[in-house]
Amino acid sequence: MIKLRNVGIIGTGSCLPDKIVTNSDLEKIVDTTDEWIKTRTGISERRMTDENTATSDLATVAAMRALESANLSPEEIDLIIVSTVTPDVMFPSTACIVQKNIGAINAAAFDLEAACAGFLYGLSVAEGLVRAGSFNNILVIGAETLTKILDFTDRNTCVIFGDGAGAAIVSEVPEGYGIMSTYIGADGRDGHLLTVPAGGSRIPSSVESVQNRLHYVKMDGKEVFKFAVKIMGDAAEKALDKCGLTKEDIDYLIPHQANIRIIEASVKRLKISHDKVFRNLDKYGNMSSASVAIAIDEASREGLLKDGDIVVLVGFGGGLTWGSAVLKWKSIGRN
Ligand code: UT7
Repeated sequence: MIKLRNVGIIGTGSCLPDKIVTNSDLEKIVDTTDEWIKTRTGISERRMTDENTATSDLATVAAMRALESANLSPEEIDLIIVSTVTPDVMFPSTACIVQKNIGAINAAAFDLEAACAGFLYGLSVAEGLVRAGSFNNILVIGAETLTKILDFTDRNTCVIFGDGAGAAIVSEVPEGYGIMSTYIGADGRDGHLLTVPAGGSRIPSSVESVQNRLHYVKMDGKEVFKFAVKIMGDAAEKALDKCGLTKEDIDYLIPHQANIRIIEASVKRLKISHDKVFRNLDKYGNMSSASVAIAIDEASREGLLKDGDIVVLVGFGGGLTWGSAVLKWKSIGRN
């Protein structure tokens, strides 16, 4: 019988564009206020790429930083999975562009799209492939340049999102720590709640589609909010259940950074103290699939995660999709 491997994250990295857009900056271009944004979302500022920077540029830097933290060379990576809703181009995949940029000549590469839950989908796929022995070192990246698909006349969406990329390397690790479980799910019936309608095969790009602003993000925020509050707790509990743990076992929670009110509702539901919950959305807003990826990197680099901690990752997004993972943390790096 084939023995399944023990799998974990052995390195992380992230990359944020330098340009900061504050709530006051947005007050000048759309009918909103700093106070509304802060109280309704918890966001103070977000990062924005310039016109010369695409998703793969952020993903490449995050990947190089993850390789460095894992003490791996690009040649040792055998698969790259990029989760994004803002690929550089329709095809080739952003993963192939990253493969070229970092010189990962031995890696297969593909993009995965599960909106804001995409990094957790990527982690789940990578976990299974490494566990089964199909691949050894998988680079999983969540990378977004959402500001490129935002309608800066739509105050319902343009105040929420930002740009960034996070990367993690999933590999075999010694028994006793690593990824204990992952859980992913979807409900396509509510896909219309969060979508970019044009630019695909249903409504190809045209002068008309652009005039009608259909190549921008459309969101029913209220409905997505209701879904998020329920699914964050459900998904976290499901992943815990899969590895025989309960919410009482959580040492640290890394939730998708969508809205402080969604995070607080999840904290209440899971009955964990606020100091065990990672938050950076005040600085970056919602970066879709990059949010959880960057959060793990920052939490790890800031020393917030201790060896042996039970760390729960949880997210949700358009699709609708959701995902969660339970990790038994060990300081990353192979040495
Ligand atoms: O990663 C997954 C992606 N999406 C999400 O997680 C989004 C989940 N949803 C949310 O975070 C919240 O629903 C929002 C932050 C998007 C909106 O907050 P809300 O408390 O649900 O506000 P609302 O949509 O119910 O709007 C309340 C009021 C409305 O005005 P009226 O109709 O009451 O006069 C909106 O027009 O707030 C108004 N409003 C704004 N006012 C100032 C909406 N956006 C803004 C704005 N500035 N930016």
